[in-house]
Amino acid sequence: MNEAMVETVSGAMVEKMTTATNVMAVEREHVLQVYRRAPVVFERGRGCRLFDADGRGYLDFISGVGVASLGHAHPRLAAALSEQASTLMHTSNLFYHPLQGEVASRLAALSGLPRTFFCNSGTEAVEACLKFARRYWFAQGTPRSGFVALEHSFHGRTIGSLSVTWDEHYRTPFAPLLADVQWVPNDDPDALLRAVTSTTAAVIAEPLQGEGGVRPLSQSMADAITRACASTGALLIADEVQSGLGRTGRPFYSAALGLKPDLMALGKALGAGVPIGAAQFSERIATAAAFGDHGSTYGGNLLACRAALVFLEELIDRNVIGNVASAGAYLEQALRQMAARHPAVRDVRGAGLIWGLELDRPAAPVVEEALNLGLLINRTAETVVRLLPPFIITSTDIDEAVGLLDKAIATAAGGAQ
Ligand SMILES: Cc1ncc(COP(=O)(O)O)c(C=O)c1O
Repeated sequence: MNEAMVETVSGAMVEKMTTATNVMAVEREHVLQVYRRAPVVFERGRGCRLFDADGRGYLDFISGVGVASLGHAHPRLAAALSEQASTLMHTSNLFYHPLQGEVASRLAALSGLPRTFFCNSGTEAVEACLKFARRYWFAQGTPRSGFVALEHSFHGRTIGSLSVTWDEHYRTPFAPLLADVQWVPNDDPDALLRAVTSTTAAVIAEPLQGEGGVRPLSQSMADAITRACASTGALLIADEVQSGLGRTGRPFYSAALGLKPDLMALGKALGAGVPIGAAQFSERIATAAAFGDHGSTYGGNLLACRAALVFLEELIDRNVIGNVASAGAYLEQALRQMAARHPAVRDVRGAGLIWGLELDRPAAPVVEEALNLGLLINRTAETVVRLLPPFIITSTDIDEAVGLLDKAIATAAGGAQ
């Protein structure tokens, strides 16, 4: 929008556009430029829709990268958070409060891993898993430091998590990272069996890789991980930050593959928009921990735990997870039918409400065209269009979204490559 165009619209519109333009300009000057943001300023949301500064609605099929699990402005969540904010939000971990144990016991029942460390993000949950894998071996008196990680993995941006993240663009500028990481192709069971040895502290894997291009682990790869861990004693860290807590229509995708992790990283959906992460540990890992080993100032504060409780009540007690499974099946069918009409779509991968369309060309123009049409999606791994709608999505929303995506692909990727 140039200045001349702004002059031709009404005064109220001018003010709105100027506001949006200002928001972007101030950010460009003062916020660290590490995000390539789309040129839209969102001001409010309701259910599965976001509204920009001009009041235009967008159908949200990315849910803040898998975070807004209950959609936007969820009435029960909003009421609970408002009540919590006017009662008590934060005490630090110097003292007890009533909500951490409640959330932890629900996570234990869901995951089968009885102990939780609370933090504020996915990468912190992964860090806790990496640390306590090593801590376990230290406590055994036979220290092991090595990690085996998979190609196309994404585990976060802090130094430990980054060390086990595949994409070199993310890693190289921050070298040196952890030294003892060994990479294995994400679908090569024999390579995995060769790589895991008696010096491996842990294998770390996303049961369904998200950022790396929406790639579910194959059953044969999952079986190889189980065998390698059993024969060498190596621990298994399941990174379920994106795939866990209902996203695939099951509590955890690792369980669907028969994996039995000792450590599990959680985040994203858990706070339904309020930052919270959690690392789950088996009892044998937890008994290796001692006072002072690890900590977080904010981790598991009352506001975050209250959000997690509402999320877990909705997911399990009110069966939102049932909606993920049924809406997910509906979405899969709609995507496969739509994809069959577009030669540019090479593959459709995912489970529940996480789907990736692999294109034969860069995905960014499709994402941009979808935004123009009022549909929010994103791109991972250059050629993959990713969909991560809120867990409360309906079949009507899905029909609308797939119709818009159909148009976006036809416009942006319709021609021969
Ligand atoms: C599988 C996985 N692990 C870890 C992370 C890092 O989470 P956060 O960005 O909350 O630190 C992500 C984020 O996308 C993720 O998808």
